[in-house]
Amino acid sequence: MNYIKRTHTCGELREKNIGEKITLNGWVDVRRDLGGVIFIDLRDRYGITQIVFEPHYNETAHNNAKDVRSEWVLSVTGTVRKRPEGTENPELETGLIDVMIDEITILNKAITPPFQIQDELDANEDLRLKYRYLDLRRKPMQKNLLLRHKMYQIVRNYFDKNSFVEIETPFLMKSTPEGARDFLVPSRIHKGHFYALPQSPQTYKQLLMVSGFDRYFQIVKCFRDEDLRADRQYEFTQIDVEMSFVDEENVFEMMEGLMKELFLQTSNFNLQTPFLRLSYKEAMETYGSDKPDLRFELKMTSLNELLKTSGFKVFSDTINKGGTVSGLNAVGCGNYTRNQLDVLTDYVKKLGAGGLIWIRVTDNGLDSPTMKFLSDEEKQSITKALNAKPGDLLLLISGEWKKALTIMGNLRLEMARRMELLKNNSEPKLLWITDFPLFEYSEADKRLVAMHHPFTSPKDSDIELMETEPQKVHAKAYDLVMNGNEIAGGSIRIFSPELQSKMFTALGLSKEEAEEKFGFLMNAFKYGAPPHGGIAFGFDRMVMLFAGESSIREVIAFPKTSSGLSLMDGSPSAASEEQLKELHIKVKGGD
Ligand code: AMO
Repeated sequence: MNYIKRTHTCGELREKNIGEKITLNGWVDVRRDLGGVIFIDLRDRYGITQIVFEPHYNETAHNNAKDVRSEWVLSVTGTVRKRPEGTENPELETGLIDVMIDEITILNKAITPPFQIQDELDANEDLRLKYRYLDLRRKPMQKNLLLRHKMYQIVRNYFDKNSFVEIETPFLMKSTPEGARDFLVPSRIHKGHFYALPQSPQTYKQLLMVSGFDRYFQIVKCFRDEDLRADRQYEFTQIDVEMSFVDEENVFEMMEGLMKELFLQTSNFNLQTPFLRLSYKEAMETYGSDKPDLRFELKMTSLNELLKTSGFKVFSDTINKGGTVSGLNAVGCGNYTRNQLDVLTDYVKKLGAGGLIWIRVTDNGLDSPTMKFLSDEEKQSITKALNAKPGDLLLLISGEWKKALTIMGNLRLEMARRMELLKNNSEPKLLWITDFPLFEYSEADKRLVAMHHPFTSPKDSDIELMETEPQKVHAKAYDLVMNGNEIAGGSIRIFSPELQSKMFTALGLSKEEAEEKFGFLMNAFKYGAPPHGGIAFGFDRMVMLFAGESSIREVIAFPKTSSGLSLMDGSPSAASEEQLKELHIKVKGGD
């Protein structure tokens, strides 16, 4: 089709352009017919410009504009004028001018969209995802994707400036263990053999260190078949980083620099470095989480020392069996009704707690059904430890260390919501979590598994415990947390074949299994592997937080639903008999 190409975008014209003859291309945002004069807000990704069709100014153009509807695509030519006094629109950047149209070409018509293309939308998410290309026309979505674009550029520039090399690694690979299920791709040529899509490029980036690339980064898709949530997708993007000849401090410093740059360039915010650091143990005991939200205080306190000899067996037995009693002071919540306290009790029970002990602090002492089990001395020391004053509500949970603390951590977040501790304008809070255990016990697998991944180095001083007391070994591993979200995780790696095989043994892998799974990496380490370490950022989560969104789906162009469907193209879908045959696959009981 013959059409006149734009001279300006729809967000560009200002008073200085008044009198100029210009051409705009764009979509009809809104059309208004006011007593014979037609006003159209013409939209593209740069903004909106009002264009005017007046019968006395140009009758043909006016006639041609009569049928135009929302979302049609137009090319218009006309003259920029100052808007008549009183009709200016201060909300629009182009709001002081409009364009008197001489010529209109309808480039394409549009059927009525399933929802209006507007900032505030009450359409449900499924509909938005089915028509994602229309959803992406909306300004908030365009803003998010433009922010994402900007963040890619800042990241690339930062790493380039610091001598990092961007290297792509394969998508069709051998499995990398990051703890999730693999997506498998069947090989047509090699019957019964499968590639795995990378859960991360972990092994490749370590091999690149063996090759001498010294500083590597990649903005890369990773694939994990795990249950989806607001902060999880099957395919997500990492900023993946690896460095040679470094310790934890070097990694922290380089990554703090990146975060500083991102804040500075996206919101002109001067982020303070170095970030706060908390050990895993401290984070769990004080905030009940390894990704604590520090935008509000509300700390938990371990009462183990005070209660380990208590006559109240529920407490003392738990503590002596290695468990914990954790307390939280909900300041000023002493007026909670019995009903409200029952709701809180149900809340923690649903999370698996045996119960919730609550104590109202009043002018006349402590008011709680549990008080009869505690001595006066214990009551006093609990009050002191939790810094309690009349009007406060004390909440106590006891149980197995990790479980009780995690439940208390959830209760902490719930109380923060109820107490409205989180101000919308509060500053971002970033911190490193360090000193993770190297292993954790998997109930499902009934064995030890690597808390990060099996290439993570133990702390030097703990190596000797690997065979005798593996659960006491700490790792040179770290997570970066922002506002209660884990945005990055990494570690200093094992680089000696001997230590690596010790690790595999501790994980219960036989020599043969280790050889079959990771022999290629172990072999590479025999040719001179430098000490190395790295980290990977969950890029979608970062963009989500920078954009002020609460789901990563809002910052991904074409995400899957929470049940893993792509509603737009209908995937996953059945494969043809022909395809399955070629891949040597038989679907049992499928459709
Ligand atoms: P890890 O498994 O901690 O580390 O992943 C790094 C970061 O990726 C993000 N992330 C996700 N984001 C969206 N959807 C998911 N399903 C998802 N899974 C993880 C998180 C997480 O912090 N190879 C190691 C890194 C290393 O050791 O260098 C790794 O992948 O924000």
